[in-house]
Amino acid sequence: MKSISVKAPSSTANLGPGFDVFGLAMDAFYDEVTLTKTKNGITIVTEDNIPTNPENNTAGLVVKNMIKKFKIKSGIEIKIKKGVPAGFGMGSSAASAAATAVAFDKLFGLKLDGNSLIEFAGYGEKASAGTVHYDNVAASVLGGFVIVKTDPLDVIRIEPPANLRMCVAVPKLDVPKKKTKVSRGVIPKNVKLTDSVLNISNASAIVAGFMKKDPELIGNSIKDVIVEPARQHMIPGYAKVKENALKAGALGVTISGAGPSIIAFSQKSANLKKISLAMSKGFSSANVKCQTIICKPSKGAANKKK
Ligand code: HSE
Repeated sequence: MKSISVKAPSSTANLGPGFDVFGLAMDAFYDEVTLTKTKNGITIVTEDNIPTNPENNTAGLVVKNMIKKFKIKSGIEIKIKKGVPAGFGMGSSAASAAATAVAFDKLFGLKLDGNSLIEFAGYGEKASAGTVHYDNVAASVLGGFVIVKTDPLDVIRIEPPANLRMCVAVPKLDVPKKKTKVSRGVIPKNVKLTDSVLNISNASAIVAGFMKKDPELIGNSIKDVIVEPARQHMIPGYAKVKENALKAGALGVTISGAGPSIIAFSQKSANLKKISLAMSKGFSSANVKCQTIICKPSKGAANKKK
């Protein structure tokens, strides 16, 4: 085999109280990466506005690291087709990294397990976030809902309820270049024990909601008293978007990953268009235009169940 193409989905991280721990793959957008064996070196081919120096490119870093680790002799051409908008809290860099790690594994017949693929994909995240966090890459590699345990890395995957739906409002805002790094900088270093207890109780209930296939329990438990209050000032209109979505029937609303997109959790039977419109109006009240997407959980790049 000389060439392989893999698609990886967008994802939402945190789901409120599960900062750096929870991820959910979403079928809203996909990145596609094609790896081709060449004589030598790493080259990047893309029509998108992303760095083409492998050192500064998510996919480039993943390939560089895997070549080294597996002592690969050939060169690689990386063709990247971005579908996930970059910098809006939908796991854009993670999707490229996940597709690359899975494609590399297939191209060289490595047969890596899920945790190893996620670990390799995580190297790519460093390029954009400054630090490694595995919530988005784990969701993008494995699909569905994921819980990231670290030290050692061990990702638990749960198949989401079939009727779970999300409305994502993506504001048309100028995002800072290293947005994730910036938005990680505003989070408090120390938290109150009572806040921690609240977040742990809601996070636990979210896990139970996924296990019991209960969108209401998931949605009602999307409550975060630590990270959301620290970040929401970075999103104009946040409070109104949230209030409107809840009034329109959303079960729970929070920042998607590091933002600035806002995500509402709901179920198939709800009036999802009404929720999306309500979110749009919330952004309008702050003079911000937005795109809304109604989506559902997605399979992962590896399409494997753990
Ligand atoms: N958990 C990460 C954060 C996700 O919230 O900073 C970034 O996409």
